[in-house]
Amino acid sequence: MKTPAYSLVLLALLGCFAASIQAYWLADIEHQGYAPYAEDGYAVFRNVKDYGAVGDGVTDDTDAINQAIMDGNRCGEGCASSTTTPAIVYFPSGTYLLSSSLLPAYMTQMIGDPNSPPTLKATSDFQGQGLINGDPYYTQDLNWLATNVFFRQVRNFVLDTTGIDAATLAYGIHWPTAQATSLQNIQFVMPTTAGTAHIGLFIESGSGGFMTDLTFSGGAVGASLGNQQFTMRNLAFDSCTTAISQLWDWGWTYYGLSISNCPVGINVTAGGSSAQTVGSITVFDSAFESVNVAILSAFVPNESQPATAGSVILENIVATDVPVIVQTSDGNVLTGSNGNTVTIAAWGQGHEYVPNGPTTFQGAFTGNTRPSSLLGGGNSVADAAGVTGGYYARSKPQYENLRACHFFSARSAGAKGDGVTDDTAALQKVIDYATATGNVVFIDYGLYLVTGTLVVPPGARIVGESYPVLMAGGNSTFVSDSNPQPLLQVGAYTGQPGSVELSDFVLATQGAQAGAILIQWNLDASGSANPAGLWDVHTRIGGFEGSNLQAAQCQKDPESQTVNTDCIGAFMSMHIVAEAASVYAENVWLWTADHDMDDGANTQITIYSGRGLLLESSAGTVWLVGTASEHHQLYQYQLSGTQDVFMGQIQTETPYYQPNPVASAPFEANATYNDPDFATTCAGDTSGTCAMAWGLRVVSSEDILVYGAGLYSFFSNYAQTCIPGRSCQSSIASLEGLTGAVNIYNLNTIGATSMVDQDGVSLASAADNVNVYPDTIALFQTS
Ligand SMILES: *[C@@H]1O[C@H](CO)[C@@H](O)[C@H](O)[C@H]1NC(C)=O
Ligand SMILES: *[C@@H]1O[C@H](CO)[C@@H](O)[C@H](O)[C@H]1NC(C)=O
Ligand SMILES: *[C@@H]1O[C@H](CO)[C@@H](O)[C@H](O)[C@H]1NC(C)=O
Ligand SMILES: *[C@@H]1O[C@H](CO)[C@@H](O)[C@H](O)[C@H]1NC(C)=O
Repeated sequence: MKTPAYSLVLLALLGCFAASIQAYWLADIEHQGYAPYAEDGYAVFRNVKDYGAVGDGVTDDTDAINQAIMDGNRCGEGCASSTTTPAIVYFPSGTYLLSSSLLPAYMTQMIGDPNSPPTLKATSDFQGQGLINGDPYYTQDLNWLATNVFFRQVRNFVLDTTGIDAATLAYGIHWPTAQATSLQNIQFVMPTTAGTAHIGLFIESGSGGFMTDLTFSGGAVGASLGNQQFTMRNLAFDSCTTAISQLWDWGWTYYGLSISNCPVGINVTAGGSSAQTVGSITVFDSAFESVNVAILSAFVPNESQPATAGSVILENIVATDVPVIVQTSDGNVLTGSNGNTVTIAAWGQGHEYVPNGPTTFQGAFTGNTRPSSLLGGGNSVADAAGVTGGYYARSKPQYENLRACHFFSARSAGAKGDGVTDDTAALQKVIDYATATGNVVFIDYGLYLVTGTLVVPPGARIVGESYPVLMAGGNSTFVSDSNPQPLLQVGAYTGQPGSVELSDFVLATQGAQAGAILIQWNLDASGSANPAGLWDVHTRIGGFEGSNLQAAQCQKDPESQTVNTDCIGAFMSMHIVAEAASVYAENVWLWTADHDMDDGANTQITIYSGRGLLLESSAGTVWLVGTASEHHQLYQYQLSGTQDVFMGQIQTETPYYQPNPVASAPFEANATYNDPDFATTCAGDTSGTCAMAWGLRVVSSEDILVYGAGLYSFFSNYAQTCIPGRSCQSSIASLEGLTGAVNIYNLNTIGATSMVDQDGVSLASAADNVNVYPDTIALFQTS
């Protein structure tokens, strides 16, 4: 019985067998990405060689590559931001000589062949701020407001600045960026000459962010970093004068570091003891070898300023031939060993609440008891350097070993991606067919209108081109908040066994969709070889062309007391149901838009969405690596009836419009979702600071281990005057009916009076824990 589908499978397989050695699949596939709001003929995919780049190490390829980047009237100098002109700029292997910076326009992904990463090599007379300048100072200021620099990637490159005189200041990448950005699989090669001034990675601003799998060799500083918060893992530094120089931050999560042969590991002394600028760092599962001082700090208990600045948490650190592990203005506060290996189980400094405080501490503490289900390593550089017992980690799959014929295109399957055509059936068809045949779904760039639930079966692998958008739309499936429905349902039924891999796409809504749950995670991957994973998969509710939830429809109006129901964007960003288990989410940003990215002035907008991430998995085993959740009405993260959860770093923001209306409207609490019932708990409050969205709410759960949290409340009905007095909202984190430990390292809050509440009682007053801008508790443990 030879069905047509069966013959198609045969053809596909034959095609794959017959093919000779091919380039990386991304270069070889048919390029059909369609940006419906860009100029006619706009190319989403660009191969730099098609624009005249030679890659022979001799020809200056700067202009050719910058032309490949800018082709098609893209968002560069003078443009505030734009989602309408996304691009992948692809580099085959080769050595591309550069005499000035590559300038990736807004929404650019620069991707090298992962099987033979291309080298970007500076000429000796190189001029510019980085081989890649992710946000140039065209005149005096950054071109883009760094906290709004979203949706961009650079992966699979070697950045070589050794051609530039060692004593000249030079950078590999300048990357002042924000959420939904990533650097992956990049080698920074700098001179090892004494007195070298080169810096591999330079970030001085922004609100990140995530990066992984980077190696730095040589240079004065591997990475020189200032930003609100970041998650970075699997970074190797060798023979840098200083591996990491922290310029300023609120919170930073580092794990899987391997630092060797660098006199200084991480320098967090910026500003000095009387005016520190580094808020906090959390470092774990990391190795230092042949380093004179692993952590250089300016913190002095009860003396340095601000009081909690310079908070440090170390856990599971292996130090070999490191005489001093932590040195502060007070001297060596944690010594290591000349020649031998010592392991630091857990050590910290700052303020602690266990769970009462504050106590100023500096020294060893009892670290987290890690559930074995969450372990497994995976930060290869730290594993190789002898770190054991590390948390499981896995980088975004790039399918290096597959060929173009293994990728089944959404547009070839008949989906249009034009923002207008109903693509539900075509998308479901390609998802089912590719998965049944063991192939990968390729979502060509486009905005795909979806009017019914898309079901992702176990075994599915789905990867997007740039960040294609699946939009819940239409007038039926997703409109009712009393009958919410998933846009992307991962698993045919709750608790279905199996695993999936999803990467590089965006879930969104078109118009008011009060019943849309953008991702519902049903799969139980606990019996699978790998956890189910999602990497660079984001929700984006409003704020872009095609969403119909923009400045034209939803401009903020702090004076009005009425909810514009046309701007109720979604019911929930993501739901991991009780029967689901074993989910690995990396660099996932759940965003209800606060401004219109396609409006020249980045006008602020009011979009209502009910809930951020609801994690109810009873068996848990969930990793949230470099995730953020912002501007949802009831909460950003709610963990309910769950266990064994790793979170680091998490970042949240309360909706800017609250308390107009307060968090009990427009969505009402629904007990089916264990919603917080602000109408009851805040009854009688007249200050307007009680019924405000939770940044983090944990109910009836245990073994929740948070490695860095930034819970921010920046506004009260669009005014920021509440920040200094910490009166934007009364409380921001709530622990209720816990069944076991909830421990948070470096809890940073802004604008909240109480930093953490348990069963309705405040445990920590923010005013007692003043840091550089946020308020910080270095060590919070419920037990
Ligand atoms: C550490 O960083 C500070 C400023 O960020 C700098 O002044 C100091 O020289 C650095 N220390 C070392 C040993 O490099
Ligand atoms: C800080 O001061 C408090 C109160 O005087 C004291 O109890 C505590 O031991 C001090 N902490 C350190 C680490 O010196
Ligand atoms: C929704 O309803 C409006 C007005 O009736 C109509 O114009 C539009 O085509 C409908 N959209 C869909 C996707 O059915
Ligand atoms: C609460 O959620 C359930 C499950 O989605 C739904 O059936 C019910 O209608 C909702 N209740 C209200 C009052 O919206």
